[in-house]
Amino acid sequence: MIVSNKLLSALFGAALAALALSPVATAEPQELAEMHVEMDGCEACHEDGEPSADGAFEFEQCQSCHGTLDEMDAVHQPHEGNLMCADCHAPHDMNVGDKPTCDSCHDDGRTPESILK
Ligand code: HEC
Ligand code: HEC
Ligand code: HEC
Ligand code: HEC
Repeated sequence: MIVSNKLLSALFGAALAALALSPVATAEPQELAEMHVEMDGCEACHEDGEPSADGAFEFEQCQSCHGTLDEMDAVHQPHEGNLMCADCHAPHDMNVGDKPTCDSCHDDGRTPESILK
């Protein structure tokens, strides 16, 4: 009786733990922009919530929170002065956790890993 009570409570505990973990385990992919909207609204990136024509204002906003390309890792550094963040991390087209690829611009088979190694 004691053993089975223990077993029951262990099972109950495991079920609770599974329940507590399930939102993480089954989380839907979330758009990169949406994750930022939850922090600061559209205004996190857009002036008065409206997209700019050239993306320069948005690029300033990225850098104000994350720092400049120069200040980041070896994947980012060589693109200082060449690219804006959204050229690789399209906030409305990519999800949190997506890693940008290189082959849309470089055709020599380089990858983030080959640079960071
Ligand atoms: C993480 C920063 C970020 C957030 C937050 C964000 N956007 Fe954007 N959005 C961008 C970037 C970068 C672009 C592309 C650059 C540009 O052309 O302005 C863009 C483009 C757009 C465009 C133009 C779409 C297109 O295909 O050209 C619209 C419309 C837009 N955003 C609306 C919104 C709205 C509405 C919100 C809030 C619900 C929002 N954005 C939140 C970064 C963001
Ligand atoms: C040349 C394409 C490229 C550009 C431009 C770029 N990134 Fe990245 N970014 C990547 C790649 C690839 C990774 C994943 C590998 C790594 O960690 O460097 C990454 C990783 C990240 C991460 C870490 C996300 C994670 O998975 O932990 C952040 C944050 C980030 N970038 C922000 C930015 C910001 C902010 C800018 C602009 C200042 C920017 N990136 C510009 C390609 C790019
Ligand atoms: C208001 C501050 C703020 C602004 C503006 C901002 N970010 Fe972020 N961003 C964050 C925070 C906070 C996180 C979550 C912690 C982290 O991963 O660094 C994050 C996370 C990220 C990640 C990692 C997501 C993942 O896969 O884990 C990327 C990539 C990123 N931001 C790109 C951008 C880009 C591109 C822009 C501009 C278009 C931008 N951010 C603007 C604060 C900001
Ligand atoms: C949106 C286009 C674009 C993407 C995507 C991109 N790059 Fe670049 N990259 C450039 C441009 C533009 C330059 C500067 C001109 C040049 O040197 O070719 C450059 C230069 C570089 C350089 C320095 C010059 C060289 O060729 O050695 C490295 C290193 C580099 N990129 C690595 C990467 C890696 C790694 C990735 C994938 C994570 C990547 N790039 C994704 C556009 C891009």
